Amino acid sequence: MCGIIGYVGKNNNCVRVLIDGLEKLEYRGYDSAGIAYFNDGKINIFKENGKLENLKNKIDLSSSSNIGIGHTRWATHGKPKKENSHPHQVGKFTIVHNGIIENYGEIKTDLEKKGYVFKSNTDTEVLCALFDYLYKSCKDVLKVIKKASEIIKGSYAVGILCDDKKDKIYVIKNKSPLIIGVGKDENFIASDVPAILDKTNYYISLEDNDYGVITKDEIKIYNNEKLKNYDVEKFEFDADLMDKKGYQHYMLKEIHEQPDVFKKTVNDYVNTSLDGLIKKMPDFTKYNKIRIVACGSATHAALVGKQMLEEYGNVKTDVETASEFRYSKPFLNKDELVIVISQSGETADTLEALKLAKDNGNDTLGIINSKGSSIARCADMVLYTKAGKEIAVATTKAYSAQVAMLSLIALNLSYKKDLISTHEIKEILNSIRTLPSQMQELLSNEGEYKTIAEKLASHNDIFFIGRKVDYALAQEGSLKLKEISYTHSDAYAAGELKHGTISLIDEKTPVIAIVTDESVAAKTISNMIEVKSRGADVLYITNRLDDVEDGLYDKKLVIPLTHKLFQPLLTIIPLQMIAYEVAKIKGCNIDKPKNLAKSVTVE
Ligand code: G6P
Repeated sequence: MCGIIGYVGKNNNCVRVLIDGLEKLEYRGYDSAGIAYFNDGKINIFKENGKLENLKNKIDLSSSSNIGIGHTRWATHGKPKKENSHPHQVGKFTIVHNGIIENYGEIKTDLEKKGYVFKSNTDTEVLCALFDYLYKSCKDVLKVIKKASEIIKGSYAVGILCDDKKDKIYVIKNKSPLIIGVGKDENFIASDVPAILDKTNYYISLEDNDYGVITKDEIKIYNNEKLKNYDVEKFEFDADLMDKKGYQHYMLKEIHEQPDVFKKTVNDYVNTSLDGLIKKMPDFTKYNKIRIVACGSATHAALVGKQMLEEYGNVKTDVETASEFRYSKPFLNKDELVIVISQSGETADTLEALKLAKDNGNDTLGIINSKGSSIARCADMVLYTKAGKEIAVATTKAYSAQVAMLSLIALNLSYKKDLISTHEIKEILNSIRTLPSQMQELLSNEGEYKTIAEKLASHNDIFFIGRKVDYALAQEGSLKLKEISYTHSDAYAAGELKHGTISLIDEKTPVIAIVTDESVAAKTISNMIEVKSRGADVLYITNRLDDVEDGLYDKKLVIPLTHKLFQPLLTIIPLQMIAYEVAKIKGCNIDKPKNLAKSVTVE
């Protein structure tokens, strides 16, 4: 979601640096892009709707400049079109912005009365005009930024150029991510470290309400008019990150990385015993209730976790969508642990939900994939998933790492509460050892997923059903299909079908029935038979071998059996692969689906 890049340095290749950075930020999702740079003391602005390629075709990459800013825009205020793209320029200011200025309407009306005329529908142009207006009576840009921050409400990470300060980039950050990359005789600004990793891996994470000024050899950061001391951090990066390793898409590569991610996530805590789990994981037994708050697939991981935490950890667990939770009465008891789950660690709603829980005095735990991210810094306790950076917008390996971590927490609780027998622990350790090869086995069934996808690709509506953990998995399977193949699909608790949805089932409607939880298998199977007898085309995904007569489904996909705590990590693979194959058949842009962003930093 909106990517920001900026460069100030000794080299004259700023335009190339900006475009390189924007390419690295493409994974966040965008619908237009633009850059602004000083050349011979004047600001040049180029922006184009659509793909970065359109912008690249309009600019000369070898133009000489040593300072500039760039942006990929994901439309919030105003349609995706050239006039609404960033950078925006008003008077002496040119800016790029990620976030939403909530009170831009009233500021706009006020500025219009003062003579400002707006060319776009964006909140960003209003912010730019506000800087320009304030600058007329105070020629100190830092003071202008501070003054503006007292007027604006909302979330913002902003990169700012001022006509009168040809060697400086100014920044301000509140609730949207922004880092400063620290180089030798050159410095950068970016939404995320990967945008600048090929230039430097030293960076400073800005905190909320930080603002500052950057030249090629100096970085000054202020908070509340006080100059701040900051830490320069080093990003340990994996050179393989941007390599597709022969896979056609990052998503496919990331699906195939899941066995390895599982090993990495689990190895820290469990090897031949549960020793690591006991020593390294905080003791959560004192909490009488757990509330998990997240967005998107992380919520679906939480729904799987709820089943595990309740069954194995014997602790009541509720799951809430962060965007709803943050505006509802939270009803949090003091003895309740609030867990937030986030791959990026930057999701605006999840971060605000976390702050709400902290303000309420609750202990908070973050299950986070990105070290040093805003959510990781804000949570009281953090357990890092080891999925590595995900590039594909639709999450796969980060989701399964979150599920694995929640299963480990459930196991830890179960052990500490003495709810699990030595025999079952042995069984679990054995399952953990064999799970990666079972995952590999599932991944090697590509042909089968393709055949299933060929049948599904021509349908406009697909239904997923399941109960308990299988319902949670159905929701993720359905989301994956929607996200990347643009096929409408819905996931239903199998028992709910009779209460309405079954009216949508007729001849050849595809229904994917997931049946892995033995405690409710017979029930889901009877729901599956109900849809089959109404003509549905049923794909039966199960870990059971010989149970249902052939004629009661159209195709059966058998997944290997493992301990219940880790079964979801196997079940999800065919669902991810089917969504991938359908999207491929339909010719969709799999790694960067339309309208979606990897990191949703606005609410
Ligand atoms: C976006 C992504 C999803 C992700 C969700 C939550 O919608 O496209 O894949 O599940 O945000 O993101 P987070 O980084 O908080 O896990």
